Amino acid sequence: MLKAAKAIRENAHAPYSGFKVGAAIRAGSGKIYTGCNVENAAYPLGTCAEGGAISAMVAAGETEIAEVLVIADAPSPVTPCGGCRQKIAEFAPPNVPVIMCNMAGDTEETTIGALLPRAFAKAHMEAG
Ligand code: THU
Repeated sequence: MLKAAKAIRENAHAPYSGFKVGAAIRAGSGKIYTGCNVENAAYPLGTCAEGGAISAMVAAGETEIAEVLVIADAPSPVTPCGGCRQKIAEFAPPNVPVIMCNMAGDTEETTIGALLPRAFAKAHMEAG
């Protein structure tokens, strides 16, 4: 996972922030999907590394996340942004591990449930 996320991070398109991010997702099948951030001159159109990895997973026909790893060159291990937490929660039960890393080798592990407690989900839209 770490090797895959580091490799894809090299492909990040981050000319505006200069902040390259790589993400790796292990899906239900065991296969690993990766993504990097892709920024745009129209700033709000940029996409996060995690979103790219999720798109690759879903495009390949998988909808179950078993583990997530994210890495960037940050002083402390990089955490998924709020939007990415919601995107991960769409496909991951609360106990799914999220491993956060930086290029210095610092690593922290948590779960998507800890990062996004009481996530808004499909169940909330079902009639009571
Ligand atoms: N970024 C990600 O790719 N994932 C995150 O979880 C945090 C932020 C990207 C978005 C933007 O291209 C750059 O990092 C700076 O915010």
